[in-house]
Amino acid sequence: MTKGTFPVESFKGLETPFYYYDVNLLKETLSIVKEITHKYGYIQHYAVKANANHRILQTIATAGFGADCVSGNEVKAAINAGFPASKVVFAGVGKTDKEINLALDYNIFCFNVESLPELEVMNELAEKKGKTASVAIRINPNVDAHTHEYITTGLNENKFGFSISFLPKVFEKIKTLKNIELIGIHFHIGSQITELDTFSELCEKLNDIQAICDKEGINIQHINLGGGLGIDYDDPNANPIPDFKGYYELINQKVSLRKGQILHTELGRSIVAQCGSLISRVTYVKEGESKKFVILDAGMTDLIRPALYQAYHKIENISSNLPVQQYDVVGPICESSDCFAKDYDLNETKRADFVALRSAGAYGEIMASQYNCRELPKAYLSDSL
Ligand code: LLP
Repeated sequence: MTKGTFPVESFKGLETPFYYYDVNLLKETLSIVKEITHKYGYIQHYAVKANANHRILQTIATAGFGADCVSGNEVKAAINAGFPASKVVFAGVGKTDKEINLALDYNIFCFNVESLPELEVMNELAEKKGKTASVAIRINPNVDAHTHEYITTGLNENKFGFSISFLPKVFEKIKTLKNIELIGIHFHIGSQITELDTFSELCEKLNDIQAICDKEGINIQHINLGGGLGIDYDDPNANPIPDFKGYYELINQKVSLRKGQILHTELGRSIVAQCGSLISRVTYVKEGESKKFVILDAGMTDLIRPALYQAYHKIENISSNLPVQQYDVVGPICESSDCFAKDYDLNETKRADFVALRSAGAYGEIMASQYNCRELPKAYLSDSL
C-alpha cells in the first residue's frame, strides 16, 4: 500500500476512524515467511497479541501457521479463527487457574512456563483432569534487546522467565511433577529489534544453554526463540516486508540444533504491522499562535503507541497532493500526550481530508481503549470493501 493506492473513494461512505488492512500484503508476507521457515524446517507461531482481528487470524491460520497466545481469551480467539489446538502455545507470567484449565481442555500443544509456583499449579490442575501438560521453560537469557525499555523483556531485571542459573533446579523439580512433561525451552528478549546482531547474541546464549541441558541429561525437543523482529516505521512504502531472510539465515547459521530438535519462532509485529493503517478524517485545522494543528477524529484511544512509547508512525494525507506544510497532528482526547507528531510535513490539509497513520497493523487495533467513552475503532480488510 503506498499513498496513491488507498481506495479513498470507498472510504467516503465509512465512519472514521477505522483500521484498514491490505490483505494482499499480509498474504505476500505470510508466503515469504512460509517459504523460508519450510526451507529450514522451522515452525512459526504467530503472536496473537499483535493483532487478534478475527479475519486477520483466519488468514494467518489458513496459511498454516500456529498461534502464540498470552491469555485464555487469546487461546479461544485463535481456535475460533481456525488454528488447530495442536499448534497453539500459551505463554505469560500470570496464567490463572481458569485459563490453565481452559487450555488443558483444548489440549493445546504447549504451555510456556515462567515460574516454579506456576509449574506446581499446572501439575495439580492437569492431575485433576487426568492429563499431562506439555511445557517449555521460558528462560531469561539476560540479552539487551536495544529497544524501548517498555518492550524489553530478556534482562535479569525483567519479570519474565527463569534465570539461566535456576535451570538445574527447575529440571530437578519437573522430574518430581508427574503431570508435567518438559518438551522445550522458550525465549523472548523484546520487540521491535532492528539490529540482527541482537538475535545473534540470543543464539549464542541458546548454544550455552544447550550445553547445560546436555550436562543435565535433559533432552529438549523444541527450541522457541520468541519474536521481536522489527519493521521499518520510517519508510513502510520502501520496506513493506521485513528482513525475514536475514533473520532466519542468521538463526540457521548461529544455532546448533541437536538431532531431532525443532526450532520455533513467534513473530507478531513483523507479520502484521505493515499491512495495517489507521484511517482518520481531519475534524479541524486550527491555527495556533506559532503553529498549525491538524485535529484528527482518531486519537490515542485508537492508536496508543505514540503516547505510550513515543513511537513514530508515518502520517500521510491521502486526500491531498498540495504542497507540504508543517503541522502538529493531534487527536481529540483530553490529554496532551494525545499527539501523533509534532512539526510534521503533511500535504496542505483541510477539514474532512483522509489521513493514514501507517504501519499500524501490529499493537494498534488490539490496544485500542474506550477512554473518554469513545467507540472502539472498526476494521475493514481490503478484499471486503
Ligand atoms: N513472544 C512473546 C513471549 C512476547 O511477549 C511477544 C511480544 C512476542 C512473542 C511477539 O513479539 P513481536 O514479534 O511482535 O515483537 N505493545 C508493544 C509491543 C509489546 C510486545 C510484547 N511481547 C508495541 O506496541 O510496540
